[in-house]
Amino acid sequence: MSEKATCQRFQYKGCNFLSPIYTIEHLEKLEHFEVRDSDVFAVTYPKSGTMWMQQILSLIYSDDDTPAVQSKSAMERVPWIELPNSNFEVRQSPRLSVTHLPYHLVPKGLKDKQGKVIYVARNPRDVLMSLYYLHNHLSTFETPKSFQDFMEQFVDGRVEFSSWFDHVREWYNHRDEFNFMYITYEEMKKDLRASILKICSFLGKHLDNEKLNTVLELCTFNTMKVNPMANYEKVPKKSNDGAFLRKGTIGDWKTHFTVAQSEMFDRIFQEKMKDFPLSFVWDQ
Ligand code: A3P
Repeated sequence: MSEKATCQRFQYKGCNFLSPIYTIEHLEKLEHFEVRDSDVFAVTYPKSGTMWMQQILSLIYSDDDTPAVQSKSAMERVPWIELPNSNFEVRQSPRLSVTHLPYHLVPKGLKDKQGKVIYVARNPRDVLMSLYYLHNHLSTFETPKSFQDFMEQFVDGRVEFSSWFDHVREWYNHRDEFNFMYITYEEMKKDLRASILKICSFLGKHLDNEKLNTVLELCTFNTMKVNPMANYEKVPKKSNDGAFLRKGTIGDWKTHFTVAQSEMFDRIFQEKMKDFPLSFVWDQ
């Protein structure tokens, strides 16, 4: 793709950081954070279901305290470790966290199979759409010149957290270094109950039927969209039309990609993911 200059605010060990919320000092420090056995990290490339996992994880661990979980924002319940204010080191166990970091920037202790990693992947055409809308709505990002231009930025990895292709491939290729579970956004969309049970089984948690039904209800798109503790409504936006919980569907890309864009994307996907053993679901 094009050789245009990257638009990162700074790059740290090959990863782009655009938003003013990140600092190199914190990123350096967090590689050495001590990991506990009970730590749980949901790892995602942006727009792959991070908020969804924040909601699911905090509810799985809420025991009988579901109302309390609903009174604290998702970011407070399951913070990003890459944010300088994550308070990671002083939080009580079990620490539930999310991160968009590539595998080589997470705390080194995780690779000693301490803690657990749940990697959530989403088909990159829908990730691209979701990210495009986010760039149009979130105050911290430059508004894309056009969809074509943004698509080129995305496939070149000239976006926050760099290349989707590298993120997914590298995490998956290094999965044996971690206590690792892989799940997809599409799997969660298709059968949320089965997905929550799969997550619980990996975490060694048991939910009785009543609790499972409560978790399911509180984790649907429609419930989260109107829940101010789950929908990030406080984050400053250019406009107020639900940028975070936008559509929540599989295959939204089909209403935006031209045939030429779809063919271009496919060529790049085939080339960059040729050795990747798993497939993606592109359509409902
Ligand atoms: P869309 O923009 O396609 O709607 P992240 O949390 O990683 O930023 O991902 C955001 C994407 O996940 C958005 O996608 C959002 O709507 C979707 N999402 C969040 N919660 C969801 C849920 N409960 N069900 C389905 N999709 C959800």
